[in-house]
Amino acid sequence: MTTAVDISPAARRSSELESEISADPSRFRILTGDRPTGPLHLGHYFGTLHNRVRLQRRGVHLSLVIADYQVLTDRDVAEDLSGHVMGLIADYLAAGIDPDEAMIFPHSQVAALNQLLLPFLSLVTVPELQRNPTVKDEIAHSRQSGVSGLMFTYPAHQAADILFCKANLVPVGSDQLPHLEVTRTIARRFNDRYGPVFPEPEALLSSAPLLLGTDGAKMSKSRGNAIMLGSSAEETARLIRGAKTDAQRHITYEPQARPEVASLVLLGALCSERDPLELAESVGSGGAAALKAVVTEAVNERFAASRARRAELLADPGYLRQVLARGNARANERAEVTLAEVREAMGTVYGESR
Ligand code: TRP
Repeated sequence: MTTAVDISPAARRSSELESEISADPSRFRILTGDRPTGPLHLGHYFGTLHNRVRLQRRGVHLSLVIADYQVLTDRDVAEDLSGHVMGLIADYLAAGIDPDEAMIFPHSQVAALNQLLLPFLSLVTVPELQRNPTVKDEIAHSRQSGVSGLMFTYPAHQAADILFCKANLVPVGSDQLPHLEVTRTIARRFNDRYGPVFPEPEALLSSAPLLLGTDGAKMSKSRGNAIMLGSSAEETARLIRGAKTDAQRHITYEPQARPEVASLVLLGALCSERDPLELAESVGSGGAAALKAVVTEAVNERFAASRARRAELLADPGYLRQVLARGNARANERAEVTLAEVREAMGTVYGESR
């Protein structure tokens, strides 16, 4: 059950934003992030991670929130959060995120960020939270019999993730647009009621084409159709060998008519920076087996270095913890400053309290 959202204005605005970023990257502060639910796959890489690395290299300031509280919105069981957080950082760094530039932190570690949630919740109504299409969608896919209170508060929590560091740009998939609207609403209402403290952040939609999993459905860890960033060359070969194709022998690139074959072609093209039409044509009558060989080689070549780097990083948990500690310290410092401004604006400064 996905509620349709008209994304064309956001898509138009995103292409304007791209030009503004090219003209002056230093004007932009990006905050984006992920739930630590397990290792990232190639769909994440080509959908978002690659774009983050690109923007960071351009000179945009980047912060990455590891949304560990958000993982708890729809589960009844404890997760291995600490293992997932370490894996996520390894995925980020191996993909090329520079930890000296980017502020990377799990939001549970930033007390002042979480404290923003209370005034923020006072600025949105219960019906607004209930009719948020992303929340509805997540409730529909929830693994719980009842809906937790955290499920309804998390769009406001996400506003705290974004606004604590006064980010003005949020690269997201179109499924996250309703959340960004909540953040914008909260920022606007806060400023109207208490005075100007927050920017109204804008969405930057990625133009990346959607990569399908090996069964032709959306690539997702829970469907078991994903190739992980950390998959070995052998595993990759096995997964691609088993990928769904169709009965037509001649390979073409027709995303509408032949989604499974087109997705394989696209994966190979993205990995080797080739044009998908040209790649499909070069395989042509070689058929699915030849296509799979080309794609396997392209994936394994593209990710050989980052896979080795990822393994090295995971073998050095001390270093990963150091990256986290640095991100936590920076995020806490930033959040304390914002919380002090919020208290000043709200008139809740009563002395030396924390
Ligand atoms: N909701 C996002 C997801 O499920 C993760 C997230 C948490 C996020 N806080 C954020 C994304 C702030 C962008 C900005 O993937």
